Amino acid sequence: MTAEELLARMRQAPVLAGPLPGFDPERADDTPGPLFARWLAHALGTGVPEPHVMTLSTADAEARPSARVLMLRGVDIEECGFVFASDAGSRKGRELTANPYAALSWYWPLHGRQIRMAGRVAVLDGDAARRDFLGRGEASRISGFTGRMSEPLAGPDEYETERRRAAGLVAADPQAVPEGHTVYVLRADEAEFFQGDSRGFHVRLRYVREEGAGWTRGLLWP
Ligand SMILES: Cc1cc2nc3c(=O)[nH]c(=O)nc-3n(C[C@H](O)[C@H](O)[C@H](O)COP(=O)(O)O)c2cc1C
Repeated sequence: MTAEELLARMRQAPVLAGPLPGFDPERADDTPGPLFARWLAHALGTGVPEPHVMTLSTADAEARPSARVLMLRGVDIEECGFVFASDAGSRKGRELTANPYAALSWYWPLHGRQIRMAGRVAVLDGDAARRDFLGRGEASRISGFTGRMSEPLAGPDEYETERRRAAGLVAADPQAVPEGHTVYVLRADEAEFFQGDSRGFHVRLRYVREEGAGWTRGLLWP
């Protein structure tokens, strides 16, 4: 397929075609945590595929960005905190050590909704990492012990060998937790809720947290 053909097909693919839910920003919550929880609960209850999968964007010490998808592992509704887990030695883990500011985003096409959160990321204690890891199924725990996330892999044979070694490790000690397994929480100081509209009347509501003064909110041009 040529680039022109690809572009023609992209132009034909519908976006924000609807029917989409409405969003009245006048009736939005005073803080973004409860609004996020309501939108996520609605997505979970109405068949949005994998609404708890989100994009985490980080940047290294030279401000070069990188992004990848992760699972959302918890929400602190009151504090507007978002929990995720990964390997501290991975690219994202190293970038968060160098620069603890990050952004999260979700896009739920079925509802035409995009949510963005940005703020500082903190590492939760070892107990949280332990609870998170031991609460997982066996396959996920084996993956957690397999190799070194984000490092070059020689090929499938190396992967197979590592996976067998990891499976042996998990079978021998089901309570073992990999050293690098880390639970992070992003505490948002900026939040945005985008409600797409099939006629183009999109709504963007942004919240900003002023330390000590709480949240303020306002509309943005779409
Ligand atoms: C649906 C989905 C969910 C994922 N969830 C996680 C996760 O919760 N934690 C994680 O470290 N990686 C997760 N990954 C893998 C990441 O996208 C990524 O490949 C990995 O974390 C390495 O990223 P990095 O090299 O930028 O550190 C997930 C991938 C997919 C497709």
